Amino acid sequence: MNLMSTHKRVPLIAGNWKMNGDTAMAQTLTGAVDEGISSLSAEVVLIPPHPYLRVVKEAIDDRQSRLGLGAQDLSVHEKGAHTGEVSGAMLMDLGCRYVLVGHSERRADHHETNEVVAAKFVAAQRAGLTPIVCLGETLAEREAGQTDAVVLGQLDAVIAAAGIESFAQAVIAYEPVWAIGTGQTATPEQAQSVHASIRARIRDNSDTIGGQVRVIYGGSVKPDNAPEILSCEDIDGGLIGGASLEASSFLGICQAAL
Ligand code: PGA
Repeated sequence: MNLMSTHKRVPLIAGNWKMNGDTAMAQTLTGAVDEGISSLSAEVVLIPPHPYLRVVKEAIDDRQSRLGLGAQDLSVHEKGAHTGEVSGAMLMDLGCRYVLVGHSERRADHHETNEVVAAKFVAAQRAGLTPIVCLGETLAEREAGQTDAVVLGQLDAVIAAAGIESFAQAVIAYEPVWAIGTGQTATPEQAQSVHASIRARIRDNSDTIGGQVRVIYGGSVKPDNAPEILSCEDIDGGLIGGASLEASSFLGICQAAL
């Protein structure tokens, strides 16, 4: 009997700024978020665009903040002739702890297949980063009743490439594509159901890791819908896009994760 699986997982709230912001915004927003999280117990991570990682890291260090730093993507390659790519080692060097892999915008806009996403997951861990692997179905897939098949297929590709033990150092984000940036969030019931399927799949492979792994939800999370979503049994935090660009809305969500 694994006792850990009955312990509550520390919630993780990650702000994915996507391709937004500039130097001044990165400094100001980092400071404002830091001020607001001092009394909270959730782990809070900022995920700015690559050019602002150092700026955010300096603001975190200057303030001796407990904010974590993550990046939005990494290369499958370790180094060499890959113009425009950023390696996991570079992200580590800049002070990142986390990196997103397989965000649906990258799967769609950059044709990242399940195999590429799995390779990025492996590359992240090889560099010492904790990958946050994003899974999610499109509206057409949901309407065709394929949600679990699609999401678990995306997960299985990572398990096949990296092994189940790798999920001891990883986070899973369930982000229904139709809920991202649309203002249309999954209902708590819809989200909880997919989160439970994801956790069951991990548990099938390792009960211990299934109980420990954090599965966070993303897709139009706002301060008003966060309490209901974040209170679901298998939802361990949020991956926040639009609402992470304003300190007040991001902090409102962080407060709901208590
Ligand atoms: P959203 O984005 O909160 O703007 O819907 C979430 C995400 O893409 O991570």
